[in-house]
Amino acid sequence: MNSSPAARLAGRVALVTGAASGIGAATARRLSAEGASVVLADIDADGAKKVAEEITAAGGEATGTACDQTDPDQVEDLFSPASPLRDRLDICVANAGWGRFGPFLEIPLPVWRKTFDVNVTGTFSVCQAAARHMVSLGRGGSIVVTSSCGAVNPVALFAAYCSAKAALSMMVTVMAYELGQYDIRANAVLPGVTETAMTNAMLADGGKAYTEAESPLGRNGRPEDIAAAVAFLAGDDAAFVTGANLLVDGGATAFSPGWFGTDFRRRHETAWMPRHAQWSPGPA
Ligand SMILES: NC(=O)c1ccc[n+]([C@@H]2O[C@H](COP(=O)([O-])OP(=O)(O)OC[C@H]3O[C@@H](n4cnc5c(N)ncnc54)[C@H](O)[C@@H]3O)[C@@H](O)[C@H]2O)c1
Repeated sequence: MNSSPAARLAGRVALVTGAASGIGAATARRLSAEGASVVLADIDADGAKKVAEEITAAGGEATGTACDQTDPDQVEDLFSPASPLRDRLDICVANAGWGRFGPFLEIPLPVWRKTFDVNVTGTFSVCQAAARHMVSLGRGGSIVVTSSCGAVNPVALFAAYCSAKAALSMMVTVMAYELGQYDIRANAVLPGVTETAMTNAMLADGGKAYTEAESPLGRNGRPEDIAAAVAFLAGDDAAFVTGANLLVDGGATAFSPGWFGTDFRRRHETAWMPRHAQWSPGPA
């Protein structure tokens, strides 16, 4: 039986990583609004604590904590005997991520390594530690990973980021395969362009008008759009959903010429440019 959305997560305890900003902060707010008690983790400890204070001021239960997910010891600490997650963990939203764009021929190795370290290895550490904790507590649980539409849609200049998110999407599918026997579900959300700190630069100088015009719903994502999908996957309304990679992108992946383009008749040139620079907006 489905409960009312307002109380769907009453009594549940959730961890959200990358919760200081953007999609993670909106997700923490949404899970709290649906009744969950939330631990917000982020490399930006002050930011996580600030969002937690806002949630508490609004009547929710939340704690902000520091965690650089590329450090396995800091990830382990999230579940230590001193942690509010010690005795209960129903929901883990492994959301923290990082990316930079640049031509494949020029990607510096440190950028490639950091992209994989934060997005793949860091998210693996969070998911493995959360799953081990859920298994030891014996109550099952729901793990939701923030992948990207870039996991399924090749985006020029995003080779590192798209490869990392594709790896995550497959990791989630295998997690669902192995963890089902413990009543742990594992799913991924694949956001399209969502207006957060991560996309500020891309959406400047006409980028916003372009991405809106190229999205079937005529707008970019808002962090709250992604948070709503995460809340669905986290709760019992998704009790029979595991191993899913859910696009939350306003249909943009179904119709996507990509963010960067070039004239392929020009040979041996680095002439990639934002498509909005080649595109002139007509009247809305
Ligand atoms: N914004 C988009 O268009 C978009 C699209 C697809 C996927 N995503 C994914 O959504 C997730 C959230 O991104 P966002 O758009 O809200 O961006 P954001 O920059 O607002 O938030 C990312 C958060 O992750 C945190 N973080 C970065 N490295 C970390 C680390 N090593 N350990 C812990 N926390 C760390 C940051 O401090 C920040 O609070 C990311 O995984 C991102 O890849 C975003």
